[in-house]
Amino acid sequence: MRTLVTMALPYANGSLHLGHFVEAIQTDVYVRALRAMGREVAFICANDMHGTPIEMSAAKAGLPPEEYVERIHREHREDYAAFQISLDEFYTTHSEENRLRTQEIYRKLVERGSIERREVEQLYCEVDGRFLPDRYVRGTCPACGAKDQYGDACEVCGSTYEAVQLKDPYCAICKDAGRGIVRPVLRRSAHYFVKLSQYQDFLRKWTTEPGRVQPDIRGFLARWLAEPLKDWDISRDEPYFGFEIPDRPPGEEKKYFYVWLDAPTGYLSSTEHWARKRGRTVEEWWGADSGTEIVHFIGKDIVYFHTLFWPAMLHASGWRVPARVHVHGMLTVEGTKMSKTRGTFINAREYLDAGLDHEWLRYYFAANLGATASDIDLSLGEMKNRVNGELLNSVGNLANRALSILWKSLSGKLGLLPGDAEGVDLWHQASLQRASAMQAYLRVDSRAAVQAALAVAAAGNERLQRKQPWKTIATDPEGARRELTLAVNLARVCAAMLEPVVPRFAQGIVEQTGAPLPAVTDHKPLEEATIREPRPLVRRMEDEDVRKLTSRFVAEAPREASAPTPASVPTPAPTSPAEITIDRFAEIDLRAGRVLAAERVPKADKLLKLTIDLGEGAPRTIVSGVAQAYRPEELVGRTVAVVANLPKKPLRGVESHGMVLFATGGPRGLTVVEVGEEVAPGSKVK
Ligand code: 2FM
Ligand code: ZN
Repeated sequence: MRTLVTMALPYANGSLHLGHFVEAIQTDVYVRALRAMGREVAFICANDMHGTPIEMSAAKAGLPPEEYVERIHREHREDYAAFQISLDEFYTTHSEENRLRTQEIYRKLVERGSIERREVEQLYCEVDGRFLPDRYVRGTCPACGAKDQYGDACEVCGSTYEAVQLKDPYCAICKDAGRGIVRPVLRRSAHYFVKLSQYQDFLRKWTTEPGRVQPDIRGFLARWLAEPLKDWDISRDEPYFGFEIPDRPPGEEKKYFYVWLDAPTGYLSSTEHWARKRGRTVEEWWGADSGTEIVHFIGKDIVYFHTLFWPAMLHASGWRVPARVHVHGMLTVEGTKMSKTRGTFINAREYLDAGLDHEWLRYYFAANLGATASDIDLSLGEMKNRVNGELLNSVGNLANRALSILWKSLSGKLGLLPGDAEGVDLWHQASLQRASAMQAYLRVDSRAAVQAALAVAAAGNERLQRKQPWKTIATDPEGARRELTLAVNLARVCAAMLEPVVPRFAQGIVEQTGAPLPAVTDHKPLEEATIREPRPLVRRMEDEDVRKLTSRFVAEAPREASAPTPASVPTPAPTSPAEITIDRFAEIDLRAGRVLAAERVPKADKLLKLTIDLGEGAPRTIVSGVAQAYRPEELVGRTVAVVANLPKKPLRGVESHGMVLFATGGPRGLTVVEVGEEVAPGSKVK
């Protein structure tokens, strides 16, 4: 089967940051797994070059926009390569192919009667000489009266509105440039709209077909599609960096396509560019009957564009529609939204320049990302624990111990696998785990795939520890050789399972065993072969590595309300907190609590609402930020440690009274602190 995989096209407006790499790593892991399974894959991306913010940044940098975006394009290309993102094509939306394809799609929409031209009134800044996009106008929220809100939605009360509805609007460009309060005026201009409601039936069907989107996304789409879709404004006035709209009435001032029309078209035109270089055609990949499975990877913030606008455009213009849109959550750093002022906004280049290994990040993200769109948190302390505890001490150690003994004491020669029933079963189980990991990759559940690899490594290490070939080598060298051969083979299977995640690590095993990784369908062990000199497969992550990034974090009260839960308390730099007296510790009322019930908090990916018996007569409600680590049912029935004397606090509309303790680390990232079921609810923990 032929699969075309894309990740969202990053704007050529600033550096790539670690948030971009959640998606890049997730997509790359998927692509590498498909390739390992023998699929024909094209992995396509490009820079998204157009729009007002880019045009303004270029002007600020004193560069023509073409030159500005080209510089950024080169930087992004290098960053992706440094993280081993194995793109087949990283092109640009500012290309001739894209201009022609965007025009073509537009003309098809015109032919189908889906475009309407009408005059609209919008806010215009006479100082800047431009219409103000929503993010460049601020004012007072018409619903709640909060000041300094953007032109589309209020961050305080959450209501959405049109920019013209803002009270006392002002030009944010002028304000931010120190020109003070400049009131925009209303000005008329012709705009071009796509009548999206014409595609409502198509979209209802497309969005509900099996496998299109994750179940948690389908709910959103159903809500959006329950109402008639609003017309979509696809035109912008000068000044704008983009493609001019063709076939306009004589005398009309220049109009440009809104960037969100030509951006997804970049998926198509970048494939075209790539295919042509290979003497192939775009129709092979995007033709309605091509049979290609088109898979888009995107973040939660751009679901609307990819599940409504884009499939409608493709359908209207006769191209193939995506088979699947996979949505991932947003990245938080140490429990809170990335923030420049807090120093937690980390660029990819800064990460690398600090001497951190790109495979640590690949491993950490892949080991934490499941198939849902839950947000993911980067905790550097936890990254260190996982990299060292899992990648090095478990998988790496299995390989390294076995290879080192074989190299030093058994002339670097593998033997046969042990023939005992347990050994045979272990080898068989490893093949089964490998198959289940590949299935997990197909579901975009790299977390489950990594767990399967760790299970193989754990079983291998357990047997090695029990059999102790380093001791038996003196009396039974051939028996020892067979044990070590099993360990090496299990390590090879682990490496094959982890190759999509940590390709350089896996390549190390290839080099040291002198043999390629076993193919997915190959269950034959590597026997009686000669190995090469072993060396560490990945560098250990030290406290100093953590400190390199955490030292720039500034402790500052977060602006947005955040839950006082283990998941959202920023992990401090790994220096121990100051000493306290026992009296201060005694101020914390720690109690055993039994979890009677647990459920998710609607519209809060991270939160679970727990009903906990603290032996007080009536159970308490405690909201905990651990929904990414535990399913609700997994906590029910456990007796856990609870901080009982915290004040009540409303969290996402639920009043929470107390805090459940979790340790950072463990396979889920967070591990609940249990006190044992024999302890009665309400008992003091001290
Ligand atoms: O949100 C963004 O960063 C956009 N540049 C993504 C575009 S994806 C695609 F549609 F082009
Ligand atoms: Zn202005």
